Amino acid sequence: MPLFNILVLGGDHIGPEVVAEAVKVIRAAEAHPAVSKKNINFNLDFDLLGGQSIDVHGIPLTPQVVEKAKKSHAVLFGAVGGPKWGMTGALRPETSVLDLRKALNCWANIRPCKIPSPGVAKCSPVKESVVKGTDFIVLRENCGGVYFGEKMETADYSHDVWGYHRWEIERIARMAAYLARKHGGATGPSKITSIDKANVLAVCRLWRDAVARVHDDEFPEIPLFNQLSDSLALLMVKNPRSLNGIVLCDNIFGDLFSDEAAAIVGSLGFSPSACLAGIPGGEEKTTGMYEPSHGSAPDLAPNKANPIATIQSAAMMLRYSCDLDFLADAIDDAISIALDDKAARGLEVRTGDIGGAASTTEMGDAVVSALNQVLNNLKI
Ligand code: NAD
Ligand code: IPM
Ligand code: MN
Repeated sequence: MPLFNILVLGGDHIGPEVVAEAVKVIRAAEAHPAVSKKNINFNLDFDLLGGQSIDVHGIPLTPQVVEKAKKSHAVLFGAVGGPKWGMTGALRPETSVLDLRKALNCWANIRPCKIPSPGVAKCSPVKESVVKGTDFIVLRENCGGVYFGEKMETADYSHDVWGYHRWEIERIARMAAYLARKHGGATGPSKITSIDKANVLAVCRLWRDAVARVHDDEFPEIPLFNQLSDSLALLMVKNPRSLNGIVLCDNIFGDLFSDEAAAIVGSLGFSPSACLAGIPGGEEKTTGMYEPSHGSAPDLAPNKANPIATIQSAAMMLRYSCDLDFLADAIDDAISIALDDKAARGLEVRTGDIGGAASTTEMGDAVVSALNQVLNNLKI
């Protein structure tokens, strides 16, 4: 009887709202006969993170939450931060995200860039003819680089060291190979485009060399290309389809380019993510952390944010941490139906960021209703 322990950390502003919709979808799945007959159950535990935790405990991430997270199969997280707590003081909600990723050793952050349904391709600020068919993954190194280098801060001079060890680059390159094979499926592995600024930065010359060597030794059959970060910024808007495959980035480039990728698909509300501590299916027991790429968008609370990215993140959790691919696929299909079928029938359920007027909860309800339809038709 599979029982999955999930720690749910909503965070601040829209964080708890979008997470509530993902929880609603998980609960609906669990209750459906096609799933309950397999005795699949989710034990959800809820706790505080970020600003909410500062208000109650005086710190953004408590040791108790870290302990609970380590004992769980997965963490489902919303977003933290907001004007009340600021983002430059000593006590910042945002440090909780980095500290939790580090505590769980979630060194790989998988951020897919794919339009969830053909009908929403027109929501992109970029022409539909340019964005349609876009399907790449920004793979972000998540526990190293300038985010975690030595820091020095004074009133007149500050620095953050941007360094990588060869082994940190090699392991994320191996994850890129794993994802390239999955992404390409039966047609053979997709290509890997590795991003750096090797014409200027020493850390990027190591990056390029380490990626090339592990590629040549371990997965020479996967096409590998190098792309300078500045021209990637251009290419991602000009011809995003040309990146289809895996876009391998260090930590800071991955942060920047995953937001740019979200604009290509029309909204941060379509940009999910999975933070993993190892290649799925490996021997070691690890906890994955699943979160939308977006922040706490204080402007959208209450009830105006798009919950799709968080629901997609929950689907990634079912795929990578629970081995429930059939349910992850069913949720992805339900999202597509909720966004498109109703639009075709003139009953558009879309939030404001994608041109509609639906609330967060209405969007979640539409996914639940589509999920029941998908599960009813499932032959299992
Ligand atoms: P943001 O991602 O919150 O918002 C950027 C833009 O995208 C805004 O216009 C917002 O309205 C829109 N947006 C974001 N999520 C959306 C959604 N689900 N549906 C529709 N539109 C959405 O970034 P920001 O404004 O730069 O930061 C706000 C706060 O969030 C800051 O405190 C920042 O530090 C924090 N932040 C937290 C995380 C995290 O917790 N993982 C990530 C990024 C930013
Ligand atoms: C993200 C966010 C975080 C990051 C912040 C909130 C620490 O921007 O998940 O993309 O920079 O990783
Ligand atoms: Mn970011």
